[in-house]
Amino acid sequence: MQRNILIGVTGGIAAYKVVEVASRLKKSGANVKVIMTKHAVEFVSPRTFQEITGNAVSVEMFADAANFNVAHISLANWADLMLIAPATANFLAKAAHGIADDLLTTTVLAFDGQILIAPAMNTKMFDNPATQANLSILKARGVKILEPATGELACGTSGKGRLPEPVEICAEVEKIFAPKILSGKKILVTAGGTVEPIDPVRYIGNRSSGRMGYEIAKAAVNAGADVVLVSGKADVEPPSGLKFVKVESALEMREAVLSEFATVDAVIMSAAVADYRVKSPAAQKIKKSADTLTLELIKNPDILRELGTLKKSQILVGFAAETQNILDYANKKLVEKNLDFIVANDVTAEGAGFGVATNIASIIRRNGSVENFPKMSKAALAEKIIERTANLLGKL
Ligand code: C5P
Repeated sequence: MQRNILIGVTGGIAAYKVVEVASRLKKSGANVKVIMTKHAVEFVSPRTFQEITGNAVSVEMFADAANFNVAHISLANWADLMLIAPATANFLAKAAHGIADDLLTTTVLAFDGQILIAPAMNTKMFDNPATQANLSILKARGVKILEPATGELACGTSGKGRLPEPVEICAEVEKIFAPKILSGKKILVTAGGTVEPIDPVRYIGNRSSGRMGYEIAKAAVNAGADVVLVSGKADVEPPSGLKFVKVESALEMREAVLSEFATVDAVIMSAAVADYRVKSPAAQKIKKSADTLTLELIKNPDILRELGTLKKSQILVGFAAETQNILDYANKKLVEKNLDFIVANDVTAEGAGFGVATNIASIIRRNGSVENFPKMSKAALAEKIIERTANLLGKL
């Protein structure tokens, strides 16, 4: 399929890296056109992009009055995807508020397809609440934001704000064009760890970073699903393009999950739910006094098990994070919780489990088949889980 990708380049030093992005996209078979802002032209010549893409580069809103064809409308109609890279804080602010004062921002406003934005700027500018608020507005509108990388910045400081490498940007573009194997399906994903209060200040928590579940939710969005992500405590930014429900305790997670369950086609339960909570959390901060302190714990509901008893046609996917006898325990849970498949992993293995970006997992199905995957990124494992879910939903 021919893809038309419109790249918007704004005025940041990272503009030079986008020459390689344009080149890679062109080589992958896409049609590429470029709009540059006036400030971007200070960093890279339009001629460079013109030679790379084989298409004229647009900068001016009213460049060619003799051949006037309302450039912003025709470019917006032409594109299947708009990629803005690098995106400056100024561009983010304008796009968030619908300001259209040059060719790029006007085209963004006239474009109703998928927009992917790769911000790049000084860390303080990125962290500024104004920039963060603008990013939230754009995300809520379904714009995909590629998180900047951390490292040395052109301004001489080091921190978050670097434009990701061209290969990574191109991989994100690929994902957007990924086959929509879950279109028309609604998927509920849980992620992160629950937080069980001890008193207003302390809690019982766990080491879950939320990474695995967030990658699953992202992969489901990329596959065209309508996604609800119910998340406990996590260390990573929630993906865009989904309904995000933040919860704290297992009881809150249960409520959020049950309220969505009747309308979903599949539930992928990757959250690390506390098995026990404090029976009576203290209303005031517990003061230090005796040498020992005993907390009485009471069992939390097993959310997934409950879904297993309620399920009609929904596909149920569970996780088994184990430290020993992995396949045995996982198999037992698969049957006891009435799941369609379970993702089992040894959380003590190097490159697997909490906090890291990779995982080593096995997928066990109801028919007894076991797939053992090598060490792979959580993003790649998430894609496998989504493919198998789509398969069970009859979409593959
Ligand atoms: O029984 P175990 O906690 O090992 O099972 C793990 C699976 O069950 C995970 O998918 C987890 O999200 C889910 N679970 C749950 N409610 C609990 C405990 C675990 O839904 N209280």
